[in-house]
Amino acid sequence: AWPKYPSIKKFSSLPNTSHPACGSWHIGDQLEVLIQMHDYHCRPKNYGGDVLLASLHNRALGAGAAGKVVDHLNGTYSAVFTLLWNGSAKIEVTLVHSSEAVEVLSRQTSEHPDRIYFKSLFWSGSKTLFANCNVCLRPSKAPLCNYTDIHTGEPWFCYKPKNVSCDARINHSKAGFIKNLRPNEGNLFSPLIHSGVMYFLCVFFFFIDELNSTMNSGRWRPSGFYYKGVWRSLGGTEVREFNPKQMTQCLKGKQVHMYGDSTIRQWFEYLNEVLPNIKQFGLHTSKQTGPLMALDYTNNIMVMFRCHGPPIRFSNVPIGGLRYIANELERVIGGPDTVIVLGIWSHFSTFPMEVYIRRLMSIRIAVVKLLARAPQTLVIVRTANLKALTLYETLTNSDWYSMQRDKALRAVFKGTGVRLVDAWEMTLAHNLPHNLHPDRPIIKNMINVLLSYVCPAKGR
Ligand SMILES: *[C@@H]1O[C@H](CO)[C@@H](O)[C@H](O)[C@H]1NC(C)=O
Ligand SMILES: *[C@@H]1O[C@H](CO)[C@@H](O)[C@H](O)[C@H]1NC(C)=O
Ligand SMILES: *[C@@H]1O[C@H](CO)[C@@H](O)[C@H](O)[C@H]1NC(C)=O
Ligand SMILES: *[C@@H]1O[C@H](CO)[C@@H](O)[C@H](O)[C@H]1NC(C)=O
Ligand SMILES: *[C@@H]1O[C@H](CO)[C@@H](O)[C@H](O)[C@H]1NC(C)=O
Ligand SMILES: *[C@@H]1O[C@H](CO)[C@@H](O)[C@H](O)[C@H]1NC(C)=O
Repeated sequence: AWPKYPSIKKFSSLPNTSHPACGSWHIGDQLEVLIQMHDYHCRPKNYGGDVLLASLHNRALGAGAAGKVVDHLNGTYSAVFTLLWNGSAKIEVTLVHSSEAVEVLSRQTSEHPDRIYFKSLFWSGSKTLFANCNVCLRPSKAPLCNYTDIHTGEPWFCYKPKNVSCDARINHSKAGFIKNLRPNEGNLFSPLIHSGVMYFLCVFFFFIDELNSTMNSGRWRPSGFYYKGVWRSLGGTEVREFNPKQMTQCLKGKQVHMYGDSTIRQWFEYLNEVLPNIKQFGLHTSKQTGPLMALDYTNNIMVMFRCHGPPIRFSNVPIGGLRYIANELERVIGGPDTVIVLGIWSHFSTFPMEVYIRRLMSIRIAVVKLLARAPQTLVIVRTANLKALTLYETLTNSDWYSMQRDKALRAVFKGTGVRLVDAWEMTLAHNLPHNLHPDRPIIKNMINVLLSYVCPAKGR
């Protein structure tokens, strides 16, 4: 049987007949994919909460863009994409965690916010002693040393070692991790889920033959996309490419202060490696904590890095090296030649959101003050990124934890005039595997974004 041609619609002229090029996709169009989740028995799920990531890729074009996932709370999800290049695209939807796994992760934080624990070394006469330390310690009769920062109010405590002064604290270290899983819960984080077997790989081809510049403004769109391996922004500051010579030219006469975790240190290391004339200064400090400093005398460039204050999962940080970013910013003079780069997220994953928000708010206050006294200072914030997830990484640093912190970070700095480097989308949109420390091609693009803020294209 074939559907009957409507009798009133007599063929009169060509324009009424079906045409293949109409109804095809155009650049700027929005593509929505409906996803129905199923359980291990292939029964459709009827509640939401799964953590899904969605992205579009075209390897041959070196193109990629993040998609947005909307949870309909009934077992179905929409992945929304903006079409940004002329060609085909592969849609990739990844299940990061099931909603059942999220339940376990959520309980880890509410019941075991101290599952990563820290220690400090204290002098006791001529010997040394260790004590347990954390943002909050479980109530006990033992006396505490209160190291709450007097300027920012950031809490930090150690159990007081017997007969030792709280001032005798020498070192801070990550002490360990307690896995608090109930029987079978580990299976929820089976590596199978992370190795691609559970991926939904849908391949759609479409031809984009015409540029639609109206790019519907009310709809969601990504912050940028890769094309020929190069990140371009959508709206905001145009991203330029910088070779080493242009990088030096851009940074001439500038001081770049970088504060944060190892994902910011990676930028310091990249600049230190790529800028032709720069030399790292030997300060005999640990690579993890810094301070690290690199100088280009000829071009008057200074780049420095310092890690953020506790909680920080490094080992043997001397107490004098524990500095809160907000306090450091109070000592920055600022001005048109000062660039502040901040990146702080991954060491906060195991704590309740309040701990992270409190930290960001203290940094926000310091940033707002800095911009009030030196409005020409450029402040750039790097967001969280996606990472490879082993069981340990999942329980201590899952993308689900990062996702929430990423949202908080964007909300806190909204309207302050700081510029964002969208590390989240830049890692999601790239075809390289997710990694806490993104691979070099991604870092190169991030540095392009950073330098485009410092040295915007002429005439903009
Ligand atoms: C799930 O919710 C969406 C959005 O409300 C709706 O469009 C869809 O029909 C629902 N699906 C099912 C299976 O109930
Ligand atoms: C720790 O010290 C801070 C200020 O120095 C104070 O506000 C707070 O109440 C103290 N906390 C405890 C548990 O003693
Ligand atoms: C405590 O320290 C003081 C002075 O360092 C010392 O005289 C005393 O014997 C110590 N007490 C104990 C119980 O270790
Ligand atoms: C899109 O690609 C097709 C086929 O490669 C080409 O013919 C067309 O000119 C391209 N359109 C634009 C706007 O680049
Ligand atoms: C461009 O997009 C707008 C909004 O989606 C649509 O109304 C318009 O017809 C499109 N133009 C072309 C040439 O496809
Ligand atoms: C800090 O701790 C490490 C070992 O845990 C030790 O080697 C180092 O000497 C300590 N620093 C000081 C100042 O004691």
